[in-house]
Amino acid sequence: MSSARTSTGPAVGPGHVRTSADLDRATIVRVLSLAGRLREERRQAIADGRPVVRDELAGRTVALVFEKPSTRTRVSFQVAVTELGGAALPLSSAELQLGRGETIADTAAVLSRYVHAIVLRTFGQERLDELADAASVPVINALSDLDHPCQALADLLTLQDEFGRLQGVALAYVGDGNNVAHALLVMGATMGLDVRVAHPEGHAPDPAIVAEAARRAEAAGGRVSVTTDVDAAVEGADALYTDVWVSMGQEDAPDRREAFVPYRLDEALLARAAEHAIVLHCLPAHRGEEISGGAIDGPSSRVFDQAENRLHVQKALLVERCAVRPAGPA
Ligand code: CP
Repeated sequence: MSSARTSTGPAVGPGHVRTSADLDRATIVRVLSLAGRLREERRQAIADGRPVVRDELAGRTVALVFEKPSTRTRVSFQVAVTELGGAALPLSSAELQLGRGETIADTAAVLSRYVHAIVLRTFGQERLDELADAASVPVINALSDLDHPCQALADLLTLQDEFGRLQGVALAYVGDGNNVAHALLVMGATMGLDVRVAHPEGHAPDPAIVAEAARRAEAAGGRVSVTTDVDAAVEGADALYTDVWVSMGQEDAPDRREAFVPYRLDEALLARAAEHAIVLHCLPAHRGEEISGGAIDGPSSRVFDQAENRLHVQKALLVERCAVRPAGPA
């Protein structure tokens, strides 16, 4: 993933999720609760050999605009829309006139006349903000250089499943202070977690995001800490989390791997965490680089539960932001 500047666009819109800061505590609680119910219903339907079909998005179309590669986000959003009874319209910027110079604002205005929501994966947060400013339908951030709110929602659901609560859970993120770190800081703080970020010198999260997270932590009875001391961050933690060292779009930057080696999530680091600690990674992973094979494939790993939870939380978010009607009983 990647790090970038703070969003400058207005936070309010027609149900937009521009950044993690657009989701308050009550909304996150509702989304996680519905996601859990939808997951159970889906698993039961699959076990019974029944189709997974709901109708909250019946007659609705959701544009999935991806300007960067994606496996989890793109597929899980497409499945989510389909299983809610809607139509998913996957698009790349190369397929749109965007790729030939049409403005983001005109694209937003036009798409808003056809579809009921726009899911966007893009580069700078300013591209997402420009789209949201001009759209009259909800715009959902499916990863920008600044933030990755859908990922953090799935991570919170995974932690809640594991520990039965979020309040006070100690989550240590080690590595690049990037968009995933930003999302975990803000959303984790909103939910009262003890969020610790350990980063190499020069790769800290955005100070404005850290300040926002600290404000939210104070209100929620949580805690936020940012340090270069990896041992201090992971000591006794309930969960260790990492992400790639080189994010999408940073492939041509000077090699940074040497600085990141002490922040590798491996068995030695895991031994410093709580005995019950779990291992998280947003994926895709590079085994032997930011995470060891033993950590990601070992008994403490929950990375594929995290990936599955993307589907359930995004379904719940779509119901929350653009359903024809609220979700009925699962
Ligand atoms: N974690 C995540 O966003 O994965 P993708 O890049 O495959 O969507």
